[in-house]
Amino acid sequence: MTDFTMQKDADGVAIVTWDVPGKSMNVLSLDGAAELNALIDDALADEAVKGIVITSGKKDFAAGMDLNVIASMKEGGAQSVFDGVMTLHHLLRKIELAGMDPKTKKGGKPIAAALPGTALGIGLELPLATHRIFAADNPKARIGLPEIMVGIFPGAGGTTRLVRRLGAMGAAPFLLEGKLSDPAKAKGAGLIDEVAADPVAAAREWVLKASDTDLVKPWDAKGYKMPGGEPYHPAGYMTFVGASAMVHGKTLGVYPAAKALLSAVYEGAMVPFDTALKIEARWFTNVLMNPSSTAMIRSLFINKEALEKGANRPDAPDQSVKKVGILGAGMMGAGIAHVSAMAGIEVVLIDSAQEAAERGKAHSAGLLDKAISRRKATEEKKAEVLARITPTTDYAALQGCDLVVEAVFEDPSVKAEVTKKAEAVLPAEAIFATNTSTLPISELAKASARPDQFIGIHFFSPVDKMALVEIIKGKETGPRAVAKALDFVRQIRKTPIVVNDARFFYANRCIIPYINEGIRMVAEGVSPVLVENAAKMMGMPLGPLQLVDETSIDLGVKIARATRAAMGDAYPDGAVDKVIFKLAEQGRLGRKAKAGFYDYDEAGKRQGFWSGLASDWPEADAQPELTEIQHRLMFVQALEAVRALEQGVLEDIREGDVGAILGWGFAPWSGGPFSWLDMLGAPRVVEIADALEAKFGPRFAAPQLLRDMATKGDSFYGRFGAGKKAA
Ligand code: NAI
Repeated sequence: MTDFTMQKDADGVAIVTWDVPGKSMNVLSLDGAAELNALIDDALADEAVKGIVITSGKKDFAAGMDLNVIASMKEGGAQSVFDGVMTLHHLLRKIELAGMDPKTKKGGKPIAAALPGTALGIGLELPLATHRIFAADNPKARIGLPEIMVGIFPGAGGTTRLVRRLGAMGAAPFLLEGKLSDPAKAKGAGLIDEVAADPVAAAREWVLKASDTDLVKPWDAKGYKMPGGEPYHPAGYMTFVGASAMVHGKTLGVYPAAKALLSAVYEGAMVPFDTALKIEARWFTNVLMNPSSTAMIRSLFINKEALEKGANRPDAPDQSVKKVGILGAGMMGAGIAHVSAMAGIEVVLIDSAQEAAERGKAHSAGLLDKAISRRKATEEKKAEVLARITPTTDYAALQGCDLVVEAVFEDPSVKAEVTKKAEAVLPAEAIFATNTSTLPISELAKASARPDQFIGIHFFSPVDKMALVEIIKGKETGPRAVAKALDFVRQIRKTPIVVNDARFFYANRCIIPYINEGIRMVAEGVSPVLVENAAKMMGMPLGPLQLVDETSIDLGVKIARATRAAMGDAYPDGAVDKVIFKLAEQGRLGRKAKAGFYDYDEAGKRQGFWSGLASDWPEADAQPELTEIQHRLMFVQALEAVRALEQGVLEDIREGDVGAILGWGFAPWSGGPFSWLDMLGAPRVVEIADALEAKFGPRFAAPQLLRDMATKGDSFYGRFGAGKKAA
């Protein structure tokens, strides 16, 4: 079983095909790289071979480096990482120089890449080392270097080559933001050379007629000048400063990978190409050895994939959904209907009025129209997806559904009524799920005649964009219901976490305190600008005030009222309520009302803070230290996550970390709250929590679990790492 094979044809073209056995997408391992190296040696030495085409046996070219290999390389320490990376550099440089005479630059063999579909990470770094890149005219394909998203950067020559191809500023969005493009856009940006109906045929034709000069990369030719100027020349320096500002603006410097990437670009631009590759490898090693990249790769790749593949799925036969009933065709129901129909599932979409059900279906049509305008879908696809959605008011249509997802008003009596109506017509084995965001599952299950088949499947808004789905087990929920929910989430290609029933489940339980802490600070007289910036500088995608504007102030008011009713005198958030109740009274309900903590223009674009904040809650003369604000905002979330673990709401810290990043954007560079607390170390965490508790109250009290860990010198991943249940 090999990852690469080679076929030489009568015209002298060697076709190297990448096709990793047993995988749906190619990923590069070090063994695979060694195979490719041997084939390239063979083809370069074989006089009968005139040119080489590297392609894939799958519908896509490659998803990138095998991140498990990266994780294991790290275990060998910095030198092993550096050596591994340099092996790749030697291979890609060999492809680039193609056996040509180093002095005359003649006699090399043309090598082209033919990409049938998606090409990411090393899947683009390898083509960048060839002499010409052809991609299929496949608008669904994604081409780019997304490494920065998992806390690393392109380290197999991608950084050095792209900067020399496009200039520092041209390469910046691809390197610093991990921007992906379809083939047409990738060609427009200069990422690839050609879009062709049959890229292998086009590449074959090209290698047969390519001349010696076609093989010499600009950076290997005399008098090479970097497009846009080298970063150390006056004009280029401005470019570099601009890119640095961009990194700081977007990530505010918390991502070590972005800083290392800029260093590699800047230092690499001053030296010859081969030296630049070594600099890139050194910075890459540096980043890979950083705890942030360890945590990001662990959460965003290894553990995310494990959860998607059913790491926490009970042992039960396949429960794939064929026909789903959705109750309530509002914002959430319509979104769930859309993603289900997209996944090939038949959908019955029920609302109390036919018109409302039709409107729910129209939401799907709107999303598909948008996709068509971006060439991401076709009219046929739209017709096919819409044909799967049946909008109706008739519960009898639920016959034959094996799953129902209820998304009617957040009102227990309405939910109880629709549960009974649905169960009256559903097959006996059907699973009933509720999308409630605030009501306890075990309470709602009381309306069900079969509570072991009743479960929470909690989506996030907007459903088509948000990757996380929280599955909630009620007291009586049985394993088959959990398996069904997990299989459904796999079908619609989202990432699941499974938690136990408790107030606000997991994600909302942690995010609400974050929002409240931000509002509480405003009430205390902390500058709102300081609050928002402190959060963003920690890597939170949205400050707490922007976040509450997005999710809406009236929802905040509703949650506050319900929590106060449930907690009575113990309710701790009176100070927060004063602020949001006031905003709500004035109709400042958030972005949807074009007025909230922020002002918005007519088009809904966010402007400055509402002036009423400054008059009702004037900024105090003395402002707190930035670190204190950051500790408050981050600890209030992370300690809540620990409590969820301690109380058994979370059973697996992997779900806690993955869920936090995908569900509410917990600073991704940290790998999630448990990874972040591990980076700080339990003793330091307890020390900070104690200081915050003394100053701001019991919401910062360190859970006993953390104190135990601090005493014993434990970490979360040491104690509960891969797959170990917390219970
Ligand atoms: P929505 O108000 O947009 O939609 C509710 C829909 O249910 C309406 O179309 C309404 O006509 C329909 N409906 C009400 N009673 C009905 C009945 N007896 N039979 C059939 N249809 C009925 O509400 P939204 O935002 O879609 O929320 C729905 C559920 O999802 C709620 O439980 C909410 O807590 C939950 N949820 C909401 C999120 C959000 O961000 N809005 C996020 C996650 C969950």
